Amino acid sequence: MIAPDPKAVEIARLKYSWPTGSYVLDLTEFNLEVGERVLIVGPSGSGKSTLLNLICGTIKPSSGTLNVLGQSLVTMGEAQRDQFRAAHLGVIFQTLNVLPYLSALDNVALACRFSKFRADMAAKGHGNVNDAACHILERLFIDGELLHRPARFLSVGQQQRVAVARALVGMPQLIVADEPSSALDADTREEFMRLIMEESEKSRTSMIFASHDPMLANYFDRVVDLTSLNQVEDVSGRLEKLT
Ligand SMILES: Nc1ncnc2c1ncn2[C@@H]1O[C@H](COP(=O)(O)OP(=O)(O)OP(=O)(O)O)[C@@H](O)[C@H]1O
Ligand SMILES: [Mg+2]
Repeated sequence: MIAPDPKAVEIARLKYSWPTGSYVLDLTEFNLEVGERVLIVGPSGSGKSTLLNLICGTIKPSSGTLNVLGQSLVTMGEAQRDQFRAAHLGVIFQTLNVLPYLSALDNVALACRFSKFRADMAAKGHGNVNDAACHILERLFIDGELLHRPARFLSVGQQQRVAVARALVGMPQLIVADEPSSALDADTREEFMRLIMEESEKSRTSMIFASHDPMLANYFDRVVDLTSLNQVEDVSGRLEKLT
């Protein structure tokens, strides 16, 4: 019998509490199929970033099952999770995380520095990592002199595009993005979504995004409201009582 293809994300009976409080997430089941695009919505404090951090392996569940691309993050140590993320995930965090002293180009190429697999994937499409990074940056209107400008001298919107390019370089199998378009104007947001969709279609990339932006819903196969999925009610209220 042939084993079923692993899902991009498979969650069962997952619980998480920040060290400071009681559970903020208690999810009975959540699956993301390979190639599927899901938008997570929910009010501020409902746990969207917490869920994405779990999927990225930057934090570990208190209990339950969490498989990403067929691998259990629960059984991996922190260094293994970091390596797994570098090789297979494109991540865009809610707060900007470009390195201010590196150029736009070096910030993007950096994504390939921690994983040979990722560097090989980038080189496969474009000859070498730098050309792959330039190609994606240029698609996001970071070109010419801007490519070599230290990120701290770029606007917030330009820095966000650098963060997006870094997530896309090397065609990762799963893209996890937390409010990725919050600092983009309407035109750039359209281009950003078009690019991310185009790039992802090439390699059946799965996507999980969290956003408040209702305009993004059209780009996704499914919109999931975290408040209806989470067994923990009134997440922020519970934590406030404890602090
Ligand atoms: N580092 C942390 N330490 C302790 N508690 C945290 C931490 N980060 C988030 N929380 C708490 O966990 C709960 C969920 O927060 P989270 O950031 O996941 O919400 P969110 O849905 O992403 O909100 P937003 O839309 O404002 O980004 C909140 O009650 C928050 O206060
Ligand atoms: Mg958040």
